[in-house]
Amino acid sequence: MDLGIMGRAAVVTGASTGIGLAVARELVENGVSVLIVARDERRLEVAAAGLRRHSQAKIASLALDVASPGAGDRIVNAAVSSFGALDILVNNAGRAHAGGLMTSSDSDWDEMTVLKLSSMRRICKAAIPHMRTKQWGRIVNMSSIGGIYPNPKLLISHVLSAAINNLTKSLALEVAADGILVNAIGIGAVATDNWANNMLPAVRRSRAEMAGLSDNEVLARVGAEMTPVGRAGTPEEIAAIAAFLVSARNGFVTGDTIEASGGADRFM
Ligand SMILES: NC(=O)c1ccc[n+]([C@@H]2O[C@H](COP(=O)([O-])OP(=O)(O)OC[C@H]3O[C@@H](n4cnc5c(N)ncnc54)[C@H](OP(=O)(O)O)[C@@H]3O)[C@@H](O)[C@H]2O)c1
Repeated sequence: MDLGIMGRAAVVTGASTGIGLAVARELVENGVSVLIVARDERRLEVAAAGLRRHSQAKIASLALDVASPGAGDRIVNAAVSSFGALDILVNNAGRAHAGGLMTSSDSDWDEMTVLKLSSMRRICKAAIPHMRTKQWGRIVNMSSIGGIYPNPKLLISHVLSAAINNLTKSLALEVAADGILVNAIGIGAVATDNWANNMLPAVRRSRAEMAGLSDNEVLARVGAEMTPVGRAGTPEEIAAIAAFLVSARNGFVTGDTIEASGGADRFM
């Protein structure tokens, strides 16, 4: 399917690995110029070099914490100075936080809120004037199915996912008349570093019977248990949905949170 976005300019945050890198790859393969953003400069450069092998499209990178002050303007200014425009924004940077109300701290709450929600709001706010100028734009915000089916063991992540879904709906209504479509993806279990770093320790703490299994075996077992299709998803499966949502082939889906969870109606 020709996505009709050749020559467009995009930002993908959290694109040095995992789902963000898979989204960036889909975009460059479709002729989109992409600015990839993440904190670790060396990993970002490796990702950019890999993307350049896939396409002649322009690729720029910016090593930045999306939660830092002024990050929204810095990201958007970097894209516009590299490509002369910004048409597509994929807000993907972030991670899960495992813990309930009684097992998480005020600083966990504050840190995760800035990382996932406030940064998204600020980047959208900086990007929209550039999309309005062209009366065309596409935004995808990465959320979790926990925003719809919350699990109290992931309280902060799932409250913030619900807020992301609400931000997405409200923003979609605010900018629909400007030709800008805004959607979220409610992601289920997808095998990435995020899962390995932030979820596996909690699974191992609560599931003593998995003590002798490797990380991959635990992921396979938990992915199969929680997912009706019988396995965890792949970054590429999420990227394919994002690529459609930000494409010219999407003209009528906006304000939605697309559930991408292999049929799961719970998170762990
Ligand atoms: N995998 C899942 O099962 C799942 C489920 C639900 C939702 N999600 C959401 O989907 C998104 C992508 O997750 P993933 O699983 O692909 O994660 P991942 O493999 O851990 O990749 C996360 C990416 O975000 C970057 N990043 C993290 N914190 C950042 C910050 N403060 N500023 C800039 N970049 C930052 C990381 O690079 P640096 O560390 O170098 O900054 C990396 O490039 C996340 O928002 C996550 O919450 C994932």
